[in-house]
Amino acid sequence: MAVDGSLEEMLSAATAAVSGCSSLDELARLQNRHLGKGSQVAEARAELRSVAAEERPAQGALIERTRAAIEEVFRSAREHLEEADRQRRLASDAADLTEILEAAVPSLGRAHLVQRTRDELEDVFVAMGYEVVEGPEVETDWYNFEALNMPPAHPARGMWDTFYLKLGEPNSIMLRTHTSPTQVRVLQRGELPVYAVMPGRCYRRDTPDARHLPVFHQIEGLVVDEGISFADLAGTIEEFTGAYFGEGIHSRLRPSYFPFTEPSAEFEVNCTICRGAGCRTCSHTGWVELGGCGMVHPAVLEAVDVDPERFTGFAFGFGIDRCAQMRHEIADMRVLVENDYRFMRQL
Ligand code: PHE
Repeated sequence: MAVDGSLEEMLSAATAAVSGCSSLDELARLQNRHLGKGSQVAEARAELRSVAAEERPAQGALIERTRAAIEEVFRSAREHLEEADRQRRLASDAADLTEILEAAVPSLGRAHLVQRTRDELEDVFVAMGYEVVEGPEVETDWYNFEALNMPPAHPARGMWDTFYLKLGEPNSIMLRTHTSPTQVRVLQRGELPVYAVMPGRCYRRDTPDARHLPVFHQIEGLVVDEGISFADLAGTIEEFTGAYFGEGIHSRLRPSYFPFTEPSAEFEVNCTICRGAGCRTCSHTGWVELGGCGMVHPAVLEAVDVDPERFTGFAFGFGIDRCAQMRHEIADMRVLVENDYRFMRQL
């Protein structure tokens, strides 16, 4: 029968068209042409009406079989193209690990960049005669705020968005928002003078962005002795800046406010990316803020029974992650916690 012949031709035409097709978009267009409304298969179906009644069931079944066969041709082609697409995407997203597999020596693990930065910062201060002290990450309100001259409801508490724990009285136990409570703990030992740095993890309810993480690291410094002046603070900061960032990078202090220091300052260093000339990272100022500092407030000394008439001191606190970011020119700090091998292998 003539129709049988043309049905076979429809199937082979569809098969030929599909075999040359290389994209899913093109496949969809072809499918419409071979199976859609204006297609020959659709026409053959429409013409069934004019076929003699006794031949109609057989003829109808034949058309159905052809249509199903063509549909199968498209289904399997679509599956192949989708799989090829998926493979292409996988290949372009993949981290190439072959160098590691092929390396003659197995590659060794190493400390995270933030840990290494912390070690280097500690070394700089140990070389200046400081001891290293750690404090707890979970603190009470007294250590995190009150002993630092921020009584309950003091407006300056708003400077630190705090994560509280469901422990004890509401809002009494928290994840420390800075390393400053460790100052209080060191002073509480009652041994003076104090020359100490206190590194560690801190927490703030901040939305992560290029320069902030809700979990970050600070290093606190505290010196309390007889006759300590603001000049000692400025000199120490400058000494540290040169020792850590290298020659040609200097520091400056700008007036600021912290409840636990008076006077207070923000300390900034020359932008290491443009070396002071001005660039995007430093908002074209040539300077990048590293942290806060100041002379220890007499109220802090009094809270831990140190006589502010006899002893004076300075304190500073700055971001370890920020130091790593400046030293290694990391545009977005979030890479520090993403564990992307392509980033970590460079370090
Ligand atoms: N604790 C302050 C902060 O996190 C920094 C600071 C430390 C300021 C010590 C002064 C003295 O913002």
